[in-house]
Amino acid sequence: MGKIVIAGGTSGIGFATAKLLSDKNNIIILGRDKSKLDKALNEIGKNVSGKSVDATNKIQLNKIFSEIGSFDHLVIAITGRKGMGVFKDLDLSDLRDGFEGKFFPQLQTAQASLPYIGKNGSITFITAISSQSKAVGTAGLGALNGAIELMIPTLAKELKPLRINAVAPGVVNTPWWDFLTPETKSEMFKQYAAAIPLGRVGEPEDIAHMIISLMENKYITGQIISVDGGLSLGQ
Ligand SMILES: NC(=O)c1ccc[n+]([C@@H]2O[C@H](COP(=O)([O-])OP(=O)(O)OC[C@H]3O[C@@H](n4cnc5c(N)ncnc54)[C@H](OP(=O)(O)O)[C@@H]3O)[C@@H](O)[C@H]2O)c1
Repeated sequence: MGKIVIAGGTSGIGFATAKLLSDKNNIIILGRDKSKLDKALNEIGKNVSGKSVDATNKIQLNKIFSEIGSFDHLVIAITGRKGMGVFKDLDLSDLRDGFEGKFFPQLQTAQASLPYIGKNGSITFITAISSQSKAVGTAGLGALNGAIELMIPTLAKELKPLRINAVAPGVVNTPWWDFLTPETKSEMFKQYAAAIPLGRVGEPEDIAHMIISLMENKYITGQIISVDGGLSLGQ
């Protein structure tokens, strides 16, 4: 598939995608934390390079993409941390931070890539199943991820023949959840597993395989694909 940039490729879903792709492609991973970036580069080992960039910063993004030059595919796995909670207690400044940490950096990354990404390539945004699951406590996160998803079909028409898609993961075992203690995380994953038709939370590779499929399949655009073990089907 060629030269692939993975924004948020130093951890979790982006990292798993980079690792799976690194056999046969030239991968560039982006993230803010230099030590995390170096560790990820070491673990992947071959066909990979990386750059430290904060995707909330447009100037940094423009500079990084001009250094990368022309490339084929972009995956945007950037995430914030905030915006979860039941509505009556939801701190709207937290939700605003959530948008600042995911919605705007994802869009800004996509915009900065446009002068360099090949017109026969693809952009895959990573959103979240909260946009569809209607789970209590996810109204804010659902709005945030749904806002990105609503843009996907229009972007696919505006930017054609560049293909634009999104993958909406369910609950996935990544460092995103490390704000919880290991005990709380394990208990919460157990509860999710009981509610998920396929009986377990996702692994980063479950999502990475779909991201790669969307990159490879040259006849799909404007789509949002859920990879959630059936969580959004409800009980
Ligand atoms: N894990 C889940 O259960 C789950 C569920 C639904 C959706 N998702 C979505 O899946 C995507 C990947 O999440 P994940 O679980 O793999 O998270 P993760 O392990 O926390 O990885 C997030 C990646 O994004 C990078 N990043 C965050 N903010 C950035 C910024 N401003 N500029 C540049 N890089 C930035 C991080 O590196 P630095 O921190 O070093 O910058 C890291 O490489 C996210 O969009 C997330 O919302 C995850």
